[in-house]
Amino acid sequence: MRFNQLGDSGIKVSAVALGTWAMGGDFWGRIDESKCIDALNAGLDSGINLIDTAPIYGSGYSEEIVGKAVKGRRKDIILATKCGLPLNSSRSRDLTRKTVIQEINESLKRLQTDYIDIYQVHWPDPDTDIAETMGVLTDIKASGKIRAIGVSNQNIDQLKQYMSNGRLDSVQPQYSLLEREIEGDILPFCRENNLGVLTYGSLGAGMLTGKFKTPPVAADGDKRAMFYPFFTEPLFGKALELLKTLETIAESHSKPVSHVAINWVSQQPGVTAALVGCKNPRQAVENADAGEWALSDEELRVIRDALNRIYAE
Ligand SMILES: NC(=O)c1ccc[n+]([C@@H]2O[C@H](COP(=O)([O-])OP(=O)(O)OC[C@H]3O[C@@H](n4cnc5c(N)ncnc54)[C@H](OP(=O)(O)O)[C@@H]3O)[C@@H](O)[C@H]2O)c1
Repeated sequence: MRFNQLGDSGIKVSAVALGTWAMGGDFWGRIDESKCIDALNAGLDSGINLIDTAPIYGSGYSEEIVGKAVKGRRKDIILATKCGLPLNSSRSRDLTRKTVIQEINESLKRLQTDYIDIYQVHWPDPDTDIAETMGVLTDIKASGKIRAIGVSNQNIDQLKQYMSNGRLDSVQPQYSLLEREIEGDILPFCRENNLGVLTYGSLGAGMLTGKFKTPPVAADGDKRAMFYPFFTEPLFGKALELLKTLETIAESHSKPVSHVAINWVSQQPGVTAALVGCKNPRQAVENADAGEWALSDEELRVIRDALNRIYAE
């Protein structure tokens, strides 16, 4: 497994990490709890050391599953969770001091731990000053309940405000071969300021495994088809065309195409780890194995050329 430093935090994370949104069971269809716990343990046994979760994933359920999975091996794991979309507030977005303190204590209970390695603001709260949020996060860090402060889904101006009010360690944006908006500003900014970058949606919600030959149908609580634009034409057809290039590279290594997608993200300059969701042990092990090899410079160039050609207009 390849490992990288998370900014200046002193925390070392695996280049491939475990995402647990689907395990909440509220967006991607319901999954058996024991299968989720087995999947997390299989990923950890395969060399991954970072798990990302959030209270909002299944109203605390994903955090509870993570808590059960890491029990007994907590000290070897980098645990990341989030605040700002609280379960017990009248506001859907709430980054006030009082609510963040309540949230961290609830997360610690669900995760069955007394510290969180990377504590991240999930989404901006336009009604709370960033100075107030960074103030309370900094106080929580001083108390020892968190080791590093991260943010997710913020623009450059918001990142600058966080940085001018305390020590920011990492950023969590959406980034994959199918969603590259951060290449224009966020990624260069993170490189310049040595902020860790944990990418989400690294597999394009499963599209980059090559398993969807037609767009997925929203069914059995699986809502992804409605959420991601690349599941709708004309982007769906472009993704299928891109997959042909990825498949050629995957075949030359005798690896699954998902490895090419995961490695492309994790090898982009500035990216610390690719968060990859999984629903069962087979997926977790397969995804972890991507961290055992890397794309060559020539392969990275071929993929960039394909992106430029397919998404030119
Ligand atoms: N900060 C934020 O706002 C934010 C937003 C989204 C996600 N996240 C975090 O980032 C993590 C990763 O993103 P994501 O889970 O949304 O999307 P993703 O990693 O792009 O896709 C994950 C999905 O792809 C499928 N899959 C994974 N490995 C596979 C394999 N080897 N073979 C076949 N199918 C496979 C699984 O669903 P199926 O088997 O059903 O196809 C899995 O749930 C999340 O779990 C969460 O921790 C954060």
